[in-house]
Amino acid sequence: MSSSPLPEAPLPNIVIVGAQWGDEGKGKVVDLVAPCVDVVARYSGGPNAGHTIVADDRRFVLQLVPSGVLRPGKKSVIGGGTVVDPIALVQEMDTLAAAGIGLDHLYLSHAAHVILPYHRALDQAMDQERIGTTGKGVGQAYTDKAARFGIRVGDLLDEAHFREKLEASLPVKNQLLRSFGREPFAVDAVVKAVQPAIKRLRPHIKDTTLLLHRWMRDGASVLFEGAQGTLLDIDHGTYPYITATSATAGGAAPGTGVPPTRINGVLGITKAYATRVGGGPFPTEVTGDLGELIRARGKEYGSVTGRPRRCGWFDAPLLRHAVRVNGLDTLAVTKLDVLDPCHAVLVGVGYRYKGTVLDEWPAEERVVTKLEPVFEERPGWLTETAGLRAWEDLPGRAHDYLRWLEDLIDCEISLVSTGPGRDETILVEPSRLTRWFPDFRRLCLR
Ligand code: IMP
Repeated sequence: MSSSPLPEAPLPNIVIVGAQWGDEGKGKVVDLVAPCVDVVARYSGGPNAGHTIVADDRRFVLQLVPSGVLRPGKKSVIGGGTVVDPIALVQEMDTLAAAGIGLDHLYLSHAAHVILPYHRALDQAMDQERIGTTGKGVGQAYTDKAARFGIRVGDLLDEAHFREKLEASLPVKNQLLRSFGREPFAVDAVVKAVQPAIKRLRPHIKDTTLLLHRWMRDGASVLFEGAQGTLLDIDHGTYPYITATSATAGGAAPGTGVPPTRINGVLGITKAYATRVGGGPFPTEVTGDLGELIRARGKEYGSVTGRPRRCGWFDAPLLRHAVRVNGLDTLAVTKLDVLDPCHAVLVGVGYRYKGTVLDEWPAEERVVTKLEPVFEERPGWLTETAGLRAWEDLPGRAHDYLRWLEDLIDCEISLVSTGPGRDETILVEPSRLTRWFPDFRRLCLR
């Protein structure tokens, strides 16, 4: 293969990234955009993610398999920046196969790190209560990756090599487990537990970086699917209440091996309000009846753990932070209809901290944990928007709300989602999205 620079693709390569604390509706938007591209590649996270997609009246919750898999013929890549629980991945693949979803074009990077049973046990012992993790072993697998104790998907392909790796790391892991009063793991038991999954995954394991470069050389365009959200990013999120990897758009390059110079744009996803699951600061959180109303209307329960999500108002400085660190070109706003019965809609426009008002998101933990929100409010639209498909059909006050958000965060809105179905979507034209994908309406909103 030539190592000359990749030619320009006929269509751009775009990242889709969560602009809040995850659960913004990335799955729906990736599935919507997928018909415009050739490949969908997941670049970070693991089975902590739950991307919900409603397609042809069927509901799918994808954890690691890219959300493009529901579009026949599209290639799906699980990149090297993810962490893979082989047993959970096989269960997910089996569920998809049983629903008639083809997996012939699913490619798993040999460089992705593996979550093994002791990672889950350590997560549950060390992190679940402390920071409200999903308990799936994700942070512990990334810990081993950084500590150079990690085991990668490619290591599973040769049992003797896999055993050697386990023999090196298990004594250390077992010592830690014992110190938390947990049972240690034996090499044999770990190998036996994952053997059937390795057999099933074997044909999908590839050098996905090489494949992506070859496909792109031949003109393919790639959609990079983020997991979690900006405020859960290991560098730009609310540390330490974050996930253990780069959830922001910049993670797409190391997480797949596609160079940053070939990534042409970033589409951010935000809810029309805000939610967070797990511990950590959330300045615009609302509790009481209003919080309950949003939770009930938005069905705000974690798709992986079933935990009730904390709910609150849209936080403009936090979104401006997301626009900056991801380089967001345009936004999709989801779940607008959840706010239909609100007499007033509030937006956080700043924070009070020790007698001063801050108008930008403060990065420091000691500050972020002590913020009081400053809200502005507008009258609600009190009209049903669920299922609307045209901008002109939205009530004037919903237009005003969306234009207000655009002004506050200085980023255009190109999609508005009014329900879980593919067609419950408003495309704003013209916008960056239709400039990237001129055929978007015809291909994606049928
Ligand atoms: P972990 O990723 O399981 O280590 O959890 C770390 C933090 O990220 C916790 O607050 C989780 O609730 C949160 N988290 C991880 N994945 C998701 C997601 O897909 N949606 C929302 N929150 C998530």
